Amino acid sequence: ELKVFRTCGELRAWRLEKYKSRGAQKVGFVPTMGALHDGHLKLILHAISEVGPEGSVVVSIFVNPTQFAPDEDFDVYPRTLDRDLEVLNSLDLQNMHELVVFAPSVKEMYPSLESISQVLEKGTFVNVVGLTEMLEGNVRPGFFRGVATVVSKLLVLVHPDIAVFGQKDVQQCFVVKRMALDMLFEPGVIKVVETYRDPVDGLALSSRNVYLTKEQRTHAPAMYRGLLLAKNLFLEKGVVASAQLIDCVLQELEKEGKEHFSVDYIKVSSSSDLSDVERIGPEGAIMSCAWRMGTTRLIDNILLGFS
Ligand code: PAJ
Repeated sequence: ELKVFRTCGELRAWRLEKYKSRGAQKVGFVPTMGALHDGHLKLILHAISEVGPEGSVVVSIFVNPTQFAPDEDFDVYPRTLDRDLEVLNSLDLQNMHELVVFAPSVKEMYPSLESISQVLEKGTFVNVVGLTEMLEGNVRPGFFRGVATVVSKLLVLVHPDIAVFGQKDVQQCFVVKRMALDMLFEPGVIKVVETYRDPVDGLALSSRNVYLTKEQRTHAPAMYRGLLLAKNLFLEKGVVASAQLIDCVLQELEKEGKEHFSVDYIKVSSSSDLSDVERIGPEGAIMSCAWRMGTTRLIDNILLGFS
């Protein structure tokens, strides 16, 4: 049966009780901003399988204001709590101890100040410096500071044995892992699950896909096709020059009609520190991209590895 907590106090009390009564049982955690889709469900199922039949999983649903820039979609971001709860309720939980939803208000998560503009001026933040400067961080200043801050708050509250994140947001995975290491969370607490895609056309599922018009939705998968072609060029033809691989993606967009894509970036980055890579070495690389279709911004990535 689903437990729903709206306050930090309730969640803390539940967690303390877990320690007292069932200290050895694992707690898994999946942070989300809601509008749950099959990608989120994969993470939740992964957490369930990791904590085992006696364990518990906490899913947080919180649209975090500090990770949105003033010109971004905070106000219109899809909020579908009732539907999200229905979806979670319908999961088959027979083999698991319990599923907890934490859906706090903004005031619960940012208690000390009256408004988000005040928080931004004189609040408390966790800032991962180096890893947040490139890629998404370059296009969305302040985004990762908001993410690292809210995720560290949530980890303090839930104190999970494992917390699960999606490969779709690959830089977020890097940032959260570094934050957890530097802030002395338990080693190995952060787990990453591969990107879940539309089974037919490969578009990565995202809460923002609902913004796409029917026409935009039909064009969107060309980006992933391009990434796959680049991966193929790398694996089959041994092409290791980033410029050539990026060209390959651009050609696929051109075929689809490049007027449909306003590309923020397509980059090949080091899989150790996300810095730009010109030629891929034996350690492999990450190819990631961000683009807009009308006003909707999408991201995706693919691993270029030899294994
Ligand atoms: P949100 O976009 O709701 O995503 C929640 C989690 O689901 C993230 O770890 C994200 O990478 C993962 N996810 C989203 N789409 C996925 C897909 N198609 N396949 C696999 N995983 C997917 O990311 C956030 O929220 C926020 O930044 C958050 C971490 C909750 C902090 O506010």
